[in-house]
Amino acid sequence: MNFIKPATTFIQPFAVSFNLVEGIMLNPKSHLVRRAGDMKGHYRDHEALAALIAAGNPTHYEVFETPVPHEYGHLMYCISKLHPGLVGEEWFMTKGHYHTAINTGEIYLALRGEGLMMMKTPDGQCRHERFEPGRMVYVPPYWGHRSINTGREPLISFCVYPGDAGHNYGDIEKEGFPRRAFCRNGATVVE
Ligand SMILES: [Fe+2]
Repeated sequence: MNFIKPATTFIQPFAVSFNLVEGIMLNPKSHLVRRAGDMKGHYRDHEALAALIAAGNPTHYEVFETPVPHEYGHLMYCISKLHPGLVGEEWFMTKGHYHTAINTGEIYLALRGEGLMMMKTPDGQCRHERFEPGRMVYVPPYWGHRSINTGREPLISFCVYPGDAGHNYGDIEKEGFPRRAFCRNGATVVE
């Protein structure tokens, strides 16, 4: 075969296995764990977060990946497991990020649990979509995104995004999200 020298690294096909109930990848190359102590500054109730950290610093979420080259043309993918819980009245959530290449989107397919995908743009637009098993959320280019678990069991989702997208956590840390999800009298309130 005649190949023009590719701008995208050529690799061999492969397959990975998941446990969709547990929300884990079998034999992942990378397993990111974020605990309550990694979430400072993200929740409204700083004292409730400090109490949670003092009471055992529980796991907030886990992300399993088998990375492919971080290049245009490749597709990154992961399975994430966001544990259930509250910081004061606020549901457990991920830090959230923009993509470093901000003109790249992402697909999230919810597999288990219930929650919200909160999305915002740098100019302050904010929208959210509901997560439930079998429901896919399309995060368009330019939208920062954060998952929120509004249920009593882990929120498990599978995501796919461009290999050259990258993660920009810093701008979201500075800006925050205009809206949050709280549990009040057993119901989820977004405000
Ligand atoms: Fe993303």
